[in-house]
Amino acid sequence: MDCDPGVDDAVMLMMALLSPQLDVRAITTVAGNVPLSLTSRNARILCQLMDRMDVPVFAGCPGPMLRTPVTAEDFHGDSGIAGLDPFEPDRPLEPAHAVSHLIKTLGAAKPQEYILVVTGPMTNIAAALVLDPSIAASIGRLVLMAGADSEGGNITPTAEFNVFADPHAAAIVFNSGIPATVMSLDVTHTVRAELPRIDRLKALKSEKASIMVRLLEAGNALEGRWKEGRKSPMHDPSTVAWLLAPHIFETRAATVSVVTDAGDRFGQTCPDFSAGGPHDWVTAADADEFFGLIERILEAA
Ligand code: BDR
Ligand code: CA
Repeated sequence: MDCDPGVDDAVMLMMALLSPQLDVRAITTVAGNVPLSLTSRNARILCQLMDRMDVPVFAGCPGPMLRTPVTAEDFHGDSGIAGLDPFEPDRPLEPAHAVSHLIKTLGAAKPQEYILVVTGPMTNIAAALVLDPSIAASIGRLVLMAGADSEGGNITPTAEFNVFADPHAAAIVFNSGIPATVMSLDVTHTVRAELPRIDRLKALKSEKASIMVRLLEAGNALEGRWKEGRKSPMHDPSTVAWLLAPHIFETRAATVSVVTDAGDRFGQTCPDFSAGGPHDWVTAADADEFFGLIERILEAA
């Protein structure tokens, strides 16, 4: 799991860490929503809160490849995990750099052995692919939260945050040809933390459900500052929801390119559907089923 927690990354991590169907081998962190020191701490906080101290966390790249860094405290709070009280986790970061860990692990793996879930700027994955292109063979699939097409952008009129924050890295990852499931704003904006859905989670009355509720309510409060009453979209959690319940999503085969030239369209993703391709662009989700999945994960936790 490569991420930049981030309120919705934290929801994604909760779903993954609490799902026995998934074997989370490592979390790698990147600068994105907040600086690297905070995303790296936040990932470890989530492991501790979810009683998953067995999962190692590796800090990765402290900034994008080429462009000036951008952050998103307006949507995630200064700590990155609005709604939770940050603390220094008991388990330290692993000593290795995330990119070295990716290269070492994937380099020793069988063909297509790993799935990489990527919910932040793609700097770490791109750096690993540039340093050692042979690791692509060990990645069976990428599950990305990235991009936008019909829905338009969320940081510029055309660009989505993760791609805008490191378009050059995103271009490297998409151009690698590794099969990818792409959760863009086209689908994530259709799945939001509406109040009746949060109420169902509140009714579970467990400590972990209350952590989830605090994150979702904080996400809604921040989202509502931009448009009154609008609830926060389930961007990053869509990746894990797809792994656990692909039948609740619809996809269309595409080849995605990224605009890296300076200008109005900097960071825009362009899915070309004319001849298919390695990228499964997710077009729709059943939002109630999505929240039913979160409820079942928390119920069983
Ligand atoms: C993406 O940007 C970040 O702010 C979120 O965590 C998510 O990964 C949505 O555009
Ligand atoms: Ca994220």
